[in-house]
Amino acid sequence: MKLKRILLLFLFLAIGVFASEILKEHPSAIFGKDLVTSILAYDKENSLHLGHLFTVLQGKYFTMLFFAISLGVPLIFAIHYAIIGPKVFSHDKKKIFVFSMFQRLIHWLAGVSFIVLIPTGIIMIDGAYFGGGEFVRVCKELHAVSTIFFAIAVVPMTIFWFKEMLPIKADIKWLMILGGYLSKEKKPIPAGKFNAGQKMWFWTCTFGGIILILTGAAMYFQDFNFNSIINTGLTQIDILRLSAIIHDILGMVMVALFFTHIYMSMFAIKGAIHSMISGYKEEEEVEILHSIYYKKLKEENKI
Ligand code: HEM
Repeated sequence: MKLKRILLLFLFLAIGVFASEILKEHPSAIFGKDLVTSILAYDKENSLHLGHLFTVLQGKYFTMLFFAISLGVPLIFAIHYAIIGPKVFSHDKKKIFVFSMFQRLIHWLAGVSFIVLIPTGIIMIDGAYFGGGEFVRVCKELHAVSTIFFAIAVVPMTIFWFKEMLPIKADIKWLMILGGYLSKEKKPIPAGKFNAGQKMWFWTCTFGGIILILTGAAMYFQDFNFNSIINTGLTQIDILRLSAIIHDILGMVMVALFFTHIYMSMFAIKGAIHSMISGYKEEEEVEILHSIYYKKLKEENKI
């Protein structure tokens, strides 16, 4: 465990040193003098001509879709809560330790960063409706700063949950019954420590999150004359446009899944939030919602 933390610390330091070396060698739009000099103007030769596609997507669809997701997903869950209601498990039985202090700290770092990233992202994409100007610019900077906190959290999170998030056969069964969330019945649900829904969220927020960080950085720094990029044959304007398209589509998925995560952990299962505060889950909750994991703990005499 100690070795893992030392390795992580080393990794962060190495990333910091590497980044500072790159910035020295290739002054960026933010720190350097060569802002925009190597970026082709709209529709110039040698570009992939993604400008039109981006303008249409951004102007017609992204704005509307973000708006629809921000209202539609919470509305669907409000209906679910009203009709089916939360799953309630006994709090009188034993409690099972599931999340270490380190995991909880890293998780909260990601959580806090998302609480800033999501609204500031939506404000940027729907900037015109929020009056544009200084307010939207401040949101852009807040979005960038909170990305740093998410970037710090995403690497350890990927490492410590990686193994338990690998797919198993039971995930297909879980998906077929939608995790049992369409009924109030307390029947054991086929799932390991994490169910298929949690796994989908994990892979989207880790690998998707890393792609969001990279595409976001490309848009933020704008001018980066790296040989490795020039050698791909893509021009910087292509990379900017591609980044914007990928970032916005993934961002939409992330917003929808983040709302789902919040609903599941704060409303759909009463008291589930405690596991991320104390590290303990109720025995009955594990027995019903993570029946394979529960059996394994029993067999190993861990409970
Ligand atoms: C304030 C926001 C958040 C709250 C209240 C929250 C709450 C929770 C809770 C209660 C659990 C345990 C669920 C269970 O096993 O029953 C959990 C797990 C988890 N959280 Fe969060 N979370 C938040 C933000 C985030 C963010 C931003 C990420 C990633 C970027 C994240 C990633 C995960 C993952 C991967 C798990 C394990 C799998 C799962 O339960 O979905 N969470 N969260």
